[in-house]
Amino acid sequence: LVARRAASYTTGRRVVQVHAVTNVSRNPNMGKLKAGYLFPEINRIKNAHLEKKPDAAIISLGIGDTTEPIPAPIIDGMISSVSGLGTPAGYAKYGGYGPGEGQAELREKIASRFYPGGEVSADEIFVSDGSKCDISRLQMLFGPNRNVAVQDPSYPAYVDSSVMNGHATSFDASTKQYGNITYLSCNSNNNFFPNLAHANDSEIIFFCSPNNPTGAAATREQLTDLVAHAKENGSIIIYDAAYASYIENPDCPKSIFEIPGADECAIETCSFSKYAGFTGLRLGWTVVPENLKFADGFSVKADWNRLMNTTFNGASNVAQAGGLACLSDEGWNAMTELVGFYKENASILKRTFEDMGYTTYGGTNAPYVWVSFDGQDSWEVFTEILEKCDIVVTPGSGFGPAGDGFIRASAFGHRDSILEATERLKKAFTK
Ligand code: MLT
Repeated sequence: LVARRAASYTTGRRVVQVHAVTNVSRNPNMGKLKAGYLFPEINRIKNAHLEKKPDAAIISLGIGDTTEPIPAPIIDGMISSVSGLGTPAGYAKYGGYGPGEGQAELREKIASRFYPGGEVSADEIFVSDGSKCDISRLQMLFGPNRNVAVQDPSYPAYVDSSVMNGHATSFDASTKQYGNITYLSCNSNNNFFPNLAHANDSEIIFFCSPNNPTGAAATREQLTDLVAHAKENGSIIIYDAAYASYIENPDCPKSIFEIPGADECAIETCSFSKYAGFTGLRLGWTVVPENLKFADGFSVKADWNRLMNTTFNGASNVAQAGGLACLSDEGWNAMTELVGFYKENASILKRTFEDMGYTTYGGTNAPYVWVSFDGQDSWEVFTEILEKCDIVVTPGSGFGPAGDGFIRASAFGHRDSILEATERLKKAFTK
């Protein structure tokens, strides 16, 4: 306490001690995090670059943030929702708090559009403000001290939220891994599908397909193995399908629920962000099947419903109107076109790196191209690309230790920026 005493002042007859710090100890789990969240860190480096070189015309192939406008039929849906909120009838229908789990019509439409085989029913769908938020809320659902497995490399929110929620022991600087988190290495030698035996003790398995960052989409056979593994070991898979609409390979399912038995061992998150440009608008959903049960037989869905109603008040009614418009025939076609546009960007980037002499992965069933820089330190490659080309990419090691030696190029860009980026890269890096 002595060190905390900073100053005092007098109010009436009282002398109030003012402390420079509070008496609240820091959450030790926050203290375990080794670095800031990946994308703000990259942004900080980009801004430092701009301070040194204010005229640099930076092109971002970094964070997977959409760039194209939201298509007109979807905007129209939101405009009529906004106008409706200004009328007594419209406000009575959709104003104020909606159902915490999402508007019934939207849940029905998500079920029929994204799960056309009837594998998911509307009441198993919980509409939210996005996959990333749901991932953290799922961590809250399971509580601390779980054995967690992640693909390595994978979306950094899985590991960071695991650390924050108390699953991890300390960070090992030599392996660059947190203790008590199982890193399932995914690389070209195993076709980016991990050896599941390493996850035999894992209660929770995060699995993303197509994978962010490698772009690898798991096949039906691989997902069948994943489901069988989870069922044998009694684990729960948290399946991130945020990029599933980019899958073109018919052997690769767009949902884990296409696999028989997944309803007894999996939760799936998905989002409108990368399909319709909703990264800022925020709308996603999580499927928690009726048949998924905790060890004592209690319903996971019932607890999720309880948790969502306590921590969340439902997605914005305007965003939900946008979601509904995405699922009309016109909206669906426009969204499919948008995904197709970004896929073309991905194929331009992939071809460019290959023409330059680099080995690439992904970029076919995903909006990310995973480029091998032959074992070079990925932060060094990131810096070199930024300095030589004024291009921001994402260093592979930001997604886990197995990502070192790679960079990820995002296809979310205007076409002219993508083409300009390819020219700059070819000039500076052709082997
Ligand atoms: C990424 O760039 O990996 C992510 O898509 C960003 C995000 O969605 O949180």
